[in-house]
Amino acid sequence: MARVRATRPQPATLIPGDGIGPEVIAAAVLAIEAAGGRIVWDVQKAGKASFDESGTPIPDSLIRSIRRTRVGLKGPLETQVGRVGYRSVNVALRKTFDLYANVRPIRTLPGVRSAFSGVDLIVVRENTEDVYSGIEHQIAPGVVEAVKVITARASRRIARYAFELARRERRRRVTAIHKANIMKLSDGLFLACARQVGKLHRRIKYDELIVDNACMQLVLRPQEFDFLLLVNLYGDIVSDLCSGLVGGLGLVPGANVGDRCAIFEAVHGTAPDIAGKGVANPLAAIFSGIMLLRHVGQTAPANRLERAAHRLLAERRVLTPDLGGKATTKKMTERLIALL
Ligand code: NAI
Repeated sequence: MARVRATRPQPATLIPGDGIGPEVIAAAVLAIEAAGGRIVWDVQKAGKASFDESGTPIPDSLIRSIRRTRVGLKGPLETQVGRVGYRSVNVALRKTFDLYANVRPIRTLPGVRSAFSGVDLIVVRENTEDVYSGIEHQIAPGVVEAVKVITARASRRIARYAFELARRERRRRVTAIHKANIMKLSDGLFLACARQVGKLHRRIKYDELIVDNACMQLVLRPQEFDFLLLVNLYGDIVSDLCSGLVGGLGLVPGANVGDRCAIFEAVHGTAPDIAGKGVANPLAAIFSGIMLLRHVGQTAPANRLERAAHRLLAERRVLTPDLGGKATTKKMTERLIALL
């Protein structure tokens, strides 16, 4: 393994999560350490694991830890569908720490069999409002209302973040995705803010697409897209669609970023169908760890780990079943570490 330039160890909160979370997060921790990442992890429970133990899905110790470290690596958390149980811990964490930008890089990876090649796009989604504001009530028996909240403040803030990131990443085109033909006021306000901010970035082309048309074009010609900017709900759905363009959920990382804190996590969920079987693909968690390393300035171990992950995928020898192989999470992680 190459020698590592000494950097100050970075404290970070580690949330193993539910389902396959502990399996893939353990793999990410091993890989980060083997690549020379210098992180001091503060392990914290959240979600079901914490609810079963202490009756709360977001314990105070977790909040204190993130306030202190200001950076976290998180496994997926289980949220029950429908009326039963607590509200989404992911949404609550994003609100508590005002993690207003959700960033998902979607790239074709070497050796991965997927419907397309040459896909390289970044999806930025507003993370704090829209229909995820959680304002839902029954107004009469059989009639339920869910409120879609869009503010100029949050829309301008996410647009500024997106264009700034696009500039840093040398992107040429930002496409805002909306349904302002129907939601004229709410998505209309989002678009007005994006246009305003876009005018300040003359070198980046700005355009707009209605979300249904955008989905159709993404599955026909994803290579033509560069950078997508979306409100919360469309962003959630379209970014999973984009994961499918490059080989599936086991490969795509993400970041929830605010002005003070950032929490990195794979796009995938707890995968109850394979949890506990030791066959989850650890790469989405490992790529999220790479984003964390870059965020805290540890670029050398991040680059080393990324190169090894690309070699692992390209050689197609030791892969988990979602990628067409037969290997376990453990074997794939060991091979990755051997390639460092
Ligand atoms: P999911 O992402 O857990 O699973 C969808 C499919 O992808 C399953 O077939 C699963 O086996 C597969 N898959 C996901 N990750 C994989 C990996 N690393 N390796 C190999 N295969 C993988 O989505 P689903 O089933 O909709 O959600 C399950 C639970 O996860 C729900 O409780 C949901 O609320 C939660 N969830 C949590 C998220 C988070 O904490 N950030 C994000 C998405 C869902």
